[in-house]
Amino acid sequence: MPAVDFDPFAPEHRPNPYPLYRRLREEAPVYQSPRGPWLLTRYADCVALMRDDRFGHGTRQRLLDKSKWRKPAEGRALPFILLDPPEHTRQRVLASRAFTPRAVHRQIPLIEKLVDEMLDAVIDAGEVDLVEAFAYPLPATVISGLLGVPAADRELVRGWSSLIARGVDPDYQYSADQKRERDEALASFDAYFAELAAEKRRNPADDLLTALIAVRDEGAGGDEGGEGEGRLSEPELLSICTMIYVAGHETTTDLLANGTLALLKNPEEFRRLRADPAGLAESAVEEFLRYDPPTQLTRRTALEDAKLDGHLISRGEQVIIVRGAANRDPSVFPDPDRLDLGRTPNKHIAFDGGIHFCLGAALARLEGRIAFAALANRTSDIELATDEPAYRSNVTIRGLSALPVRLRS
Ligand code: HEM
Repeated sequence: MPAVDFDPFAPEHRPNPYPLYRRLREEAPVYQSPRGPWLLTRYADCVALMRDDRFGHGTRQRLLDKSKWRKPAEGRALPFILLDPPEHTRQRVLASRAFTPRAVHRQIPLIEKLVDEMLDAVIDAGEVDLVEAFAYPLPATVISGLLGVPAADRELVRGWSSLIARGVDPDYQYSADQKRERDEALASFDAYFAELAAEKRRNPADDLLTALIAVRDEGAGGDEGGEGEGRLSEPELLSICTMIYVAGHETTTDLLANGTLALLKNPEEFRRLRADPAGLAESAVEEFLRYDPPTQLTRRTALEDAKLDGHLISRGEQVIIVRGAANRDPSVFPDPDRLDLGRTPNKHIAFDGGIHFCLGAALARLEGRIAFAALANRTSDIELATDEPAYRSNVTIRGLSALPVRLRS
């Protein structure tokens, strides 16, 4: 028996899971938790698992149904983040035809404008909650604009989105009522995007939903009608919209808030960023992603019996990549508990490193770079207005529920 008895989902680890990650990595790097899933905490093991095709989601083999994780409701498609090849590959390729680097690049002026406006409202304004005033609305407004969700609907979809973000945690975390709420949120999103897609079909716009509809309706090359290689089905289209909407801001909010908190707790590094915001913002974002990643855990299922470091993982068993632990593995990151905004190289795995590599990484990096450069440029001081900021109950997507601060110009 290992000396650790670690339930990664226990609430007491939320504020600071890193000491436990470290013990696990040192004492039981391939560890079966009391809840069942295996946990990997060494960098090399996590990277190997992300690229190991003996592990996946097991949707096709119905392994997903056996597990306690989300099943698709009648008539719904699972988002491709939960699919294995070849279904995953086909949908990802099709979605990428609409969600292009050019579409991301075109967001720069909007992001800069939003950052300026939001900071104008909070600098020298006394105590503010930086999550509510900045870290949440910035990515939510950007992803809404990109997808084509009207501003008037944002509050409506906000509640559904947070229920879904929380719903990526293991089912046993939640009561039957909470699971029902999450499934209702997914259904509400589907109905919402179905209606919005109908509207965009009547009035095409310069947005991602219109571009995805083109991939859905016209196909992406040589497909002879119906769904298939070159087309998305209607349920696939809707699940992609929901996935991009939710993935597009819940995590980026946490990058902005977790990163700001890291700066406040490391004033030397904040001074360093202030001295050279343009030069340092890019590597600072990478360091925030390494140091306190918004996506702490990712689950995979053994598609066949497999040995990991001498342990037999039976078909259908769950293995969890603990990104937050791998990102602080001292064999890859010297002095890993130190925040070093200039760290190079910095091959963290906050965006994954296999076939599911984050589709929105470029957008998240862009928002982070502009936001942190502006925070450093425009403030002379940010003072934390609480001793210990509170975390949301989520485990998989880790972030603050509020960040009370005072910003001075
Ligand atoms: C700091 C912000 C973000 C972080 C830390 C993050 C992290 C991740 C991670 C770890 C995965 C892989 C999950 C897995 O392996 O199961 C992923 C996948 C994904 N992310 Fe992100 N993400 C961020 C922002 C975004 C944004 C802004 C978007 C879209 C606009 C986005 C869209 C996606 C999509 C669609 C996938 C699924 C890719 C696939 O399955 O092939 N993400 N993200």
